[in-house]
Amino acid sequence: EKGGYQHFMAKEIMEQPKAVRDTISPRIQNGKIVLDNITLTAEQIKSFSKIYIVACGSAYHVGVVAKYVLEKFTRIPVEVDVASEFRYRQPILDDKVLVLVISQSGETADTLAALREAKHLGARTLSIVNVVGSSIANDSDDVIYTWAGPEIAVATTKAYSTQLAVVYLLAIYFADKLGVLSAEEYADYVAKLQALPDKISEALENKEQIQYLASQFFNVKDVFFIGRNLDYAMSLEGSLKLKEISYIHSDAYAAGELKHGTISLVEDGTLVIALATQDALFDKMISNVKEVKARGAVVLGLTTEHNKKIEQVADYALYVPEFCEMMQPSLAVIPLQLFAYYVASMKGCDIDKPRNLAKSVTVE
Ligand code: M6R
Repeated sequence: EKGGYQHFMAKEIMEQPKAVRDTISPRIQNGKIVLDNITLTAEQIKSFSKIYIVACGSAYHVGVVAKYVLEKFTRIPVEVDVASEFRYRQPILDDKVLVLVISQSGETADTLAALREAKHLGARTLSIVNVVGSSIANDSDDVIYTWAGPEIAVATTKAYSTQLAVVYLLAIYFADKLGVLSAEEYADYVAKLQALPDKISEALENKEQIQYLASQFFNVKDVFFIGRNLDYAMSLEGSLKLKEISYIHSDAYAAGELKHGTISLVEDGTLVIALATQDALFDKMISNVKEVKARGAVVLGLTTEHNKKIEQVADYALYVPEFCEMMQPSLAVIPLQLFAYYVASMKGCDIDKPRNLAKSVTVE
């Protein structure tokens, strides 16, 4: 049932191109994004003054990506919160607010409670869910399913990637309904969406190098992931993947925040994984890499293929294919998942069932 792989996580990592294709393809018809079962009208989309995104764990990290992507495409302010915080902070909601809920299982207790609270307060609700007929899917005004198929490993990979794909679909769909994209821009983004599964396959080809890097670092005690904007969102996910399956302490920081405290933790040999896939912020990231290098850090830089300049400052360089910047997270996450997987495997951890964790958290 593991299809020849040693762990479900490895199988699910490799299934990502297919899962993303299954999620995107049925929603593109004759060059248009079709979200058939969505009852939201263009008028309602235009009326939204705010979008809240609510989720837990990795689904929350998708929400952090979605904040950047939705704001860029719609110019509607977006706030993202973990469900266990949102539900107890008396959120300010009405029918001009869209609450977007993200959950693989559709059964996470805090996320479900946050959704119910949002409905109770009169917000419009939309959920991104993987399990058909789950509680969150049933209770939302609208649902967009991710077609990742069953995910067995506790650490999410393919569900995460399909959630990102739905976020892009939704952002472009909303932008179109808001009338903010030219016909050319729209066609271009739709073409990018269609090309995404193949780009993910390309990113997966780099396994050996990541395995080698894992062999260099699987004994470290602490890891810091740093990035800006979308790369900060990816740092959060890379850090969570690593800690949940390898039990290595790690944290993610917005790179510009380092000098406000965290940099005091960097000493000789500290591993810093620096994400720099956003061209507009590349030089800022180079400065941050120099800052941590000056304090003795060993830096693994992750960027896109044309940014070879990373090699002048980082100790190791990892490249992902060049792609549409907004969708770059779908490629950047691949080496982060593989790195966590190989490190955990070299440490002999129980990868599919890490200690203390459950696949679906149905209690508070
Ligand atoms: O089923 P959900 O997407 O609602 O689950 C949310 C989190 O529990 C989940 O993403 C968790 O963080 C994963 N183990 C991360 O790999």
